[in-house]
Amino acid sequence: MPHEIQQDSWKQLAGEAAAKLIEDGMVIGLGSGSTAVYLIYALARRIQAGLSIVGAVPTSKATGELANNLGIPLTDLDTHPELDLDIDGADEIDSQLGLIKGGGGALLREKIVASAAQSFIVIADITKQVRQLGLKTPLPVETIPFAATPVRKRLEALGAIVQLRQLAGQLYLTDNNNVILDCTFPGGITDPPDLENRIKRIVGVVETGLFLNMARQAIIGGPEGVKVLP
Ligand code: 5RP
Repeated sequence: MPHEIQQDSWKQLAGEAAAKLIEDGMVIGLGSGSTAVYLIYALARRIQAGLSIVGAVPTSKATGELANNLGIPLTDLDTHPELDLDIDGADEIDSQLGLIKGGGGALLREKIVASAAQSFIVIADITKQVRQLGLKTPLPVETIPFAATPVRKRLEALGAIVQLRQLAGQLYLTDNNNVILDCTFPGGITDPPDLENRIKRIVGVVETGLFLNMARQAIIGGPEGVKVLP
């Protein structure tokens, strides 16, 4: 089987397993990306079969549109500032359940929604598990466009090779009309909390894709089925 098809079936396993954790009466966060799409379809099927949630807060416009089209009731953080459960994908997951997120550009809303949830569960295929963050995936840093060049220089001073994200030859703008600076750290990220602190101190940075001490559990799909960490 081609690798992408296999990887996709593992994402499906994780997304569908996580949908089973959603209970009647919950207010939930709905993640973004291709693994979250499987969660969203599985949740829609459960709602059609009689599950009754209070509402779901989408972490991106794309997720909101898909969920709405599938009949999932949507809500927002003004109406429900506290969520029971948030389920979202990741680009990398380390052994402490530290994450890199934002490959799809939704990191700011994803982090806000995750931090509003009593429980945040990450879903992924097994290829996302890493021994060290930042060796495979650049760290996305959402930045105010006005500050992109000075922020870039400050990130370079922290050792990053910085790429201003483009999509189809155009400047990529997030759902919040910000830009993303994708930061590659040669040798990976050796001290994630320290790096997070240093980047968050740069004026003009809105948020980073490092999600540390946030995920309570990881549901990982792979060739042997689904495993739950820790
Ligand atoms: C989007 C994200 C996604 O959750 C992350 O990129 C994983 O995506 P996928 O499930 O498609 O591999 O952080 O901002």
